[in-house]
Amino acid sequence: MTSMTSTAALTSATALAHPPFEADESVTYAAARERSRVLDALIDEHAASDPTRFRMLSGDRPTGPLHIGHFLASLRNRVRLQDKGVETFVLIADYQVITDRDSVGAIGDNVHGLVLDYLAAGLDPARTTIFAHSAVPALNQLMLPFLSLVTDAELRRNPTVKDELTLSDGRPLSGLLLTYPVHQAADILFCHSRIVPVGRDQLPHLEQTRAIARRFNARYAGGQPVFGEPEALLSDVPLLLGTDGTKMSKSRGNVVNLRDSADETAARIRAARTDSERRITYDPNGRPAVANLLTIAGLFLEESPEAVAEGIGDGGASRLKEVVTDAVNGSLAGHRARRAELERDPGYVAGVLRGGNERANAVADRTLATVRAVMGMAY
Ligand code: TRP
Repeated sequence: MTSMTSTAALTSATALAHPPFEADESVTYAAARERSRVLDALIDEHAASDPTRFRMLSGDRPTGPLHIGHFLASLRNRVRLQDKGVETFVLIADYQVITDRDSVGAIGDNVHGLVLDYLAAGLDPARTTIFAHSAVPALNQLMLPFLSLVTDAELRRNPTVKDELTLSDGRPLSGLLLTYPVHQAADILFCHSRIVPVGRDQLPHLEQTRAIARRFNARYAGGQPVFGEPEALLSDVPLLLGTDGTKMSKSRGNVVNLRDSADETAARIRAARTDSERRITYDPNGRPAVANLLTIAGLFLEESPEAVAEGIGDGGASRLKEVVTDAVNGSLAGHRARRAELERDPGYVAGVLRGGNERANAVADRTLATVRAVMGMAY
């Protein structure tokens, strides 16, 4: 009886006041793409004079080395936004590692490796707060009130939770996997970020975060806008495949990591799947593996894949692979040199993370203090 009453209360007070966020995925995606174009233009116009207006948070799970897909789809873009003046937070989502696996693995090394790649790519610790969410207690405490604003049915419907469950080989659904979208909402809202650069797969989390912000304001803050609603910034980088033409993933051994040497990169690309036609054309449907390599080269060279294909002409797969290898190695040479240099100074790298954690803690403490105050819990 008690639980029925509280469920009914939740439904009427919150869920019905805010209709379920789930809509037709492709409609949501198209709208998010359109809105991202508008946001890009607004950022170009206003970021330099008004950096906090676009405060941005993005993050990575420290599950292994970053590869060229991460670099092209997100890392490079974070650096560009930082350089446009956007106030930038970069989260290392270490607690998220245990949502779908049994152990944290080589977590310390993975975290250190991420910081190396962030710095080598040009994230500047003077302007960008690099931190790990496990090191920010007040961020994690936000999860408690936020959990009261969602229903288990809503979380079970979350497409990302469902996908992760499928990928976790029949493991039972853990409480953390079920609720990690709420934790992610705490990541995003603790610093009042307005812009969250994400891939298409993360859009449901953004919608869930927006719902939590609205419900918090309505239920606990008497309608005051304690939390704003952050917006997704989708990159226009298309989905990239690994060198075998399937999903790019470390466990498939089909990736080029940012930290790989030029020779390792050449070897990986030499082994890439192609076909035996001499004339190289950009045909994503008919020749997906070739098109993927052309796309990767084009993104590094800042040219269209068609133009890259044109330049190769009748050179066949071997010329294509040379072009891709040169594009990757040429573009990453500076990154790799800076990374190697930073690797010789682990104390500096650890200090960057400590400094970022400190800044994130200061921000999170302020937010939690506001939350407790509006909830009447400031004793
Ligand atoms: N879920 C993201 C991923 O798997 C990582 C992440 C955690 C994140 N918290 C975030 C991304 C907050 C953006 C905002 O890559």
